[in-house]
Amino acid sequence: MAGITTVALLGTGLLGTAIGQRLLEQDVVVQAWNRSHQRLQPLVALGARGCREPQEALEGCDWGITVLSDGAATRSVLQRCPLHSQRVLQMGTIAPAESRELGEAIGAAGGAYLEVPVLGSRPEALAGRLQVMAAGPVALFDAALPVLTRLGPEPRLLGPLGAALETKLALNQLIASLTHAFSLSLHLVQSCGVDVERFMDLLRGSALYAPTFDKKLPRLLADDYDHPNFPTAHLRKDLLLFLAAARERGLDTSGLQGLADLLAQAEAGPLDALDYSALHRLTARPDQP
Ligand SMILES: NC(=O)c1ccc[n+]([C@@H]2O[C@H](COP(=O)([O-])OP(=O)(O)OC[C@H]3O[C@@H](n4cnc5c(N)ncnc54)[C@H](OP(=O)(O)O)[C@@H]3O)[C@@H](O)[C@H]2O)c1
Repeated sequence: MAGITTVALLGTGLLGTAIGQRLLEQDVVVQAWNRSHQRLQPLVALGARGCREPQEALEGCDWGITVLSDGAATRSVLQRCPLHSQRVLQMGTIAPAESRELGEAIGAAGGAYLEVPVLGSRPEALAGRLQVMAAGPVALFDAALPVLTRLGPEPRLLGPLGAALETKLALNQLIASLTHAFSLSLHLVQSCGVDVERFMDLLRGSALYAPTFDKKLPRLLADDYDHPNFPTAHLRKDLLLFLAAARERGLDTSGLQGLADLLAQAEAGPLDALDYSALHRLTARPDQP
């Protein structure tokens, strides 16, 4: 791509900061805004321009990227911005219906909107190895590729607005379900006194194994969920979004509702800000730590 790419980054939380850092390392000019100004500082130290208002960040930029908690936050931030000639890449995990509404509103204002949720977390963002899913107009996706390929090697256009977010929710449902299933089995094995490594050997040698089990095992054994890349509150949000989307499609979600009820116990408590594998504490016997 000829010339320098300029990006307005709206939202510098865990994922937004990693995306900003990666773009800066890839010679993209980043103008960043965050609701709490203090959370901008790591990116400013790396060379981003810190902005006081989202509209100030968007000024003169080729692209606006939103990485905000949810649909309501994304809508409220974008509503403050003039969007008539703005091209917005929305990377947060929000409801597919909310994304379609954003697309309509931005289109009506004369701007352009692409839904671009990602699979992977801070380490993958920093290394440019996110799995980038997109939905929206083909021409906009093609135009965004020089930015998107800096974040992930193979961005995929999956269909009209909503399609990428439904796919993302399908994947995140697996994060929740696999972690929950592993947590319960691990507790049972430990409760009956079988050596965890012997259980893991059996599991690793079977078709039931998923790499996420070994990734999370040290945290579960140490009961250490500090320094999260993806917190419990976001896992619960995504599971609820999955349940709503699946119900809208007429699927029977009754088997998954129990996991949502379990995760609801963490709401507004100390587990919410910890790594999502802290759900292992929820599946524990009450007399266990
Ligand atoms: N972390 C990951 O590994 C990961 C991976 C894939 C997708 N995602 C998705 O990406 C999005 C961001 O995740 P994250 O992990 O970066 O979350 P985070 O660390 O909790 O950051 C959330 C961001 O949203 C902002 N925000 C929240 N409510 C707001 C409001 N009402 N008005 C304005 N700004 C608001 C926060 O601002 P303040 O700093 O002022 O609170 C912060 O910038 C979420 O949808 C998440 O599901 C995350």
